[in-house]
Amino acid sequence: MDKREPSDSPDGNAGTERDPEHIPADKPVDLIPKAVLEYRPRPTTPLELLIDPSLGVILGRSESFHRKYRSMGLGLIGAVTESSEDVLTSLFGMPVNLDLVSPHVMLVAGKRGSGKSYTLGLISEELARAMARKEIEVAVVVIDTVDVFRQVIEPNTDQGDLLRKWGLEAQGFPAAVYIPRRAFSHLPDEVKKRSKLFPLAISPSELSLSDWAYVLEKSGILSTAIENLINDVIDSLRRGYTRETGKEEPPRSDFSIQDMIQCVDANAGLSDLYKPATRTALVQRLRRAQHLGVFHPGGTSAQDLAVAGRITIVDVAPLGSDADAVLAILTNMLSRQILTYRMAWTDEGTSAREELPPTWLIVDEAQTLVPRSGSTPAKDAIVSYAKLGRRFGCSLVLCTQQPSAVSDEAISQADIVISHSLSHDADIKALQQRAPAVMPEEFKDKAFISGLPRGVALVFDQSTENRRGFVMQARPRMSKHGGTDRVSALLEATKLLPPEAPESEVGAPTIGGRASEDEAGRPAELPGVPRPPLKLSREDWNVLDGWIREYVKALFERQKREYAITEESAPRIGEASSEALGAAVSEETPSIPFESTSHIDYSDIAARKFGALSETLLEKAMERQVLYAKSSHEFLFKKDSEYRETVTVRRTGVEGVTFLQSVVATLMSLGLAVDSIRHTEGFTFVLMRKDAMRASISVGVSEESACVPVVIIGPDRKAVSSLSAKVRSSVR
Ligand SMILES: Nc1ncnc2c1ncn2[C@@H]1O[C@H](COP(=O)(O)OP(=O)(O)OP(=O)(O)O)[C@@H](O)[C@H]1O
Ligand SMILES: [Mg+2]
Repeated sequence: MDKREPSDSPDGNAGTERDPEHIPADKPVDLIPKAVLEYRPRPTTPLELLIDPSLGVILGRSESFHRKYRSMGLGLIGAVTESSEDVLTSLFGMPVNLDLVSPHVMLVAGKRGSGKSYTLGLISEELARAMARKEIEVAVVVIDTVDVFRQVIEPNTDQGDLLRKWGLEAQGFPAAVYIPRRAFSHLPDEVKKRSKLFPLAISPSELSLSDWAYVLEKSGILSTAIENLINDVIDSLRRGYTRETGKEEPPRSDFSIQDMIQCVDANAGLSDLYKPATRTALVQRLRRAQHLGVFHPGGTSAQDLAVAGRITIVDVAPLGSDADAVLAILTNMLSRQILTYRMAWTDEGTSAREELPPTWLIVDEAQTLVPRSGSTPAKDAIVSYAKLGRRFGCSLVLCTQQPSAVSDEAISQADIVISHSLSHDADIKALQQRAPAVMPEEFKDKAFISGLPRGVALVFDQSTENRRGFVMQARPRMSKHGGTDRVSALLEATKLLPPEAPESEVGAPTIGGRASEDEAGRPAELPGVPRPPLKLSREDWNVLDGWIREYVKALFERQKREYAITEESAPRIGEASSEALGAAVSEETPSIPFESTSHIDYSDIAARKFGALSETLLEKAMERQVLYAKSSHEFLFKKDSEYRETVTVRRTGVEGVTFLQSVVATLMSLGLAVDSIRHTEGFTFVLMRKDAMRASISVGVSEESACVPVVIIGPDRKAVSSLSAKVRSSVR
């Protein structure tokens, strides 16, 4: 591993030189109170860390580097939560400060729900705080696939008391949130303004041939005929072409997907060269890409996103299950552009800062972008960024549930590793191999690492002063974590825009622009929902409901089309239901009520079989079914104001129905009773109840993988989350 000193050259992140007048007096640091550090393991190996008596533990700096910068450009990320019998050497309660002055490559790992995204959020907060103190001048770009970072603009007022115990106050931070262009153009202006939303677009002219393959085909492989055709289309658009009508199309440097479709349809040269079937196949695929609503001429550039002094969140959650390819292409372009701009500085001798500020690129869910095996459009670019970025002032933070599934080339660059709880042997082993500091024997114990509570992490730092890894409690967030506001419902709803919707122009929204106040000037009354921070009119919400209905319809239509396009055999209808329903397309069978919850006839239950899908896609497809398939939807969604959680479990090499059976048995052991069983479009939904809470479960299989989503809904938020937590831990 590259053991180098953090850089303090002009390409580092420091904004101004330290002013010696402002060195704080050496008052000993206040320890974080015991009361907020509940988890107190006692490893026997002595703890050796770089300590500044007036600041606490220093991560990511050598002693000499720290002597130069002292308190400048440090961010408080947590506290040492290891206790020791020897009070003299105990570091329990010491604040942990991360260096933000020099560039770093960090890995944040941990199983689902262990607190990774939360930790990424607090690193972003500290970058924003250090910028506000004018100690550093950087850009922060966070790639968010699940809509958890957007609310960084709002203060975390719910945890004011806890924050004070850490010497902090609730606070929102300046951020800009980029969402796919189509989702953006359909949101009310008021929402855009309040939530600091901006449209995100990728110009089709910037995609390489292999990028197109990933966009158009899940496998990333196109047939030779289609590949040649798309090459010819792009070439024709760039050089200009003659239409069948004889009209000349001028050359274009930038173009839309619509221009590409038109070229396939009207270019006289192409109709001679390619069979109609090939042309139709390409047009169908291009239309599907167009529906994502993110490919548009004049795409968003790295300079739009990487702006000094600001956190930029690229929230691709509205793309839903189609996000993977877009995300990979976007990250590829972004990391390549950042690196090139920054590298240009050394070549031309001009200030790199004028081109693009030193950038922290923070990528959640990295295993899909930089997998250990296989390639994605982003893999090479991220690996190069990890290897070269630091030299040009750029930092990278990769986050993953599965360190064993992330490219070793990228992980091996990490100088700081923060690992939350891990439960799979392969992941624990990957951490042991790649931890950039000594790992005490206790930490290698599976029971220890899988038992770390949420928000607690093992921290390893390459700098020689911090010899061994240690246990840290992450501090509470000053701003809000997680997409839990009304905008999340809106973003969810924009996924549901019917595919037929034209690629609307920005500024022509379907909703919004209407007054959301009544004649008396009072805010219009909102339907009863838990947190109503946004003033949308009733009519706006009706439009949203319309989208949802359209979506349910469109989902089935599209699914049929997708299967037709990819030439896979149509999804098999479960035997029981296809026979019971006959060959005609039957929507529903009547529900089968159960007299006794303990006797379920599993012979009637079918696992929905899909063709080859990635595990993520299978998960997302199944979750959507449980949420939107008619019978399940009707059973679950009775009122607006209820709370919902989804627990999705996966297994490989197990028969689908057997797996479902074991999940149902678990739910029964937690007190749920079967209400009824319903069949819709080849899916079986087991509908269950416990008091006012309702749950719907189904099973889908693809090759060796089986996936069972459990959606739980109820009026009491605590009850729903406690039940979900129990389900999560018992079916693991
Ligand atoms: N340090 C912490 N203090 C308090 N709450 C936390 C902390 N870390 C995480 N949480 C809470 O735990 C939940 C899960 O955290 P988070 O979203 O960060 O998990 P994750 O590891 O990113 O999960 P996933 O793999 O599903 O993305 C959140 O509701 C969050 O508020
Ligand atoms: Mg997360």
